[in-house]
Amino acid sequence: MIGVVLAGGLGTRLHPLTLYTNKHMVRVGCLPMIEYPINVLAEAGIKDIVIVSGGEFFEQIEQYLSHGNERGLNFHYENQNRAWEKPKGIAHALSRVKKIVGKEDMAVILGDNIFGMKLDFNLKEGMEAKIFLKEVKNPERFGVAEIKDGKVISIEEKPKKPKSNYVVTGAYVYKANVFDFIETLEPSERGELEITDVNNWYIKRGKMCYEIIEGFWSDAGTRESIKVAEEYVIKSGLEEKILKKYPFLNSRKEWEKLFK
Ligand code: DAU
Repeated sequence: MIGVVLAGGLGTRLHPLTLYTNKHMVRVGCLPMIEYPINVLAEAGIKDIVIVSGGEFFEQIEQYLSHGNERGLNFHYENQNRAWEKPKGIAHALSRVKKIVGKEDMAVILGDNIFGMKLDFNLKEGMEAKIFLKEVKNPERFGVAEIKDGKVISIEEKPKKPKSNYVVTGAYVYKANVFDFIETLEPSERGELEITDVNNWYIKRGKMCYEIIEGFWSDAGTRESIKVAEEYVIKSGLEEKILKKYPFLNSRKEWEKLFK
């Protein structure tokens, strides 16, 4: 299985910060945000990880993470869009990894998602995709699952009237047939190739399995959500765990000095 971290997009909700830095290099706790999704894939035993980013700060991530060998990982990089082009959505970012991934299954994670637990990226027998749902109080901000008789029957992206409190987190498993479907996708009203359309395609064909996750999950795409995530990574010791695992990352004290 190949890991994919999608770290493109504009990060407009973090302006003016993201006018001079890649959103996924913004710190959550003392570490750049992207450390957390990478850690989820590494903890699942995935060694080959493709990182997709784009725009004027595309190279920051590659400069920071490099080849990954000192972590026992292999990082590969794909560019979603040039500095002057508007990124075309999560499914578009995913389509960029087609060549590297070939026919393998993919564990995909959004670069701004912070998970407080290990994820099981294995597909159930006969299934072609998997999503991880989380019960939240503010589902309108996310993709929301409609569940009937224990089955997810559809997902609605940022609905005004959510059909449940179960939202689709930014971790997915796909078989390589995802690329053929993305090629047929039309942009949504907001001009993006939506990952929710991809997920609905698997649901309609009865090929999507899901798991409800317990424990901490948040995105880190807004100042408020960064604060929530930050409190979690510090209090739970997740930040410390990553620092200890990769000693070359140094200590919280050194990171603090850097940003004073
Ligand atoms: O966090 C989970 C949510 O993520 C899901 O519940 C939604 O269904 C899904 O659409 C997504 O919603 P957001 O509105 O939070 O997505 P956002 O545009 O903020 O992008 C999240 C990450 O996806 C971003 O940090 C990097 C990656 N991305 C996004 C876009 C638009 C790309 O790599 N390329 C892109 O073009």
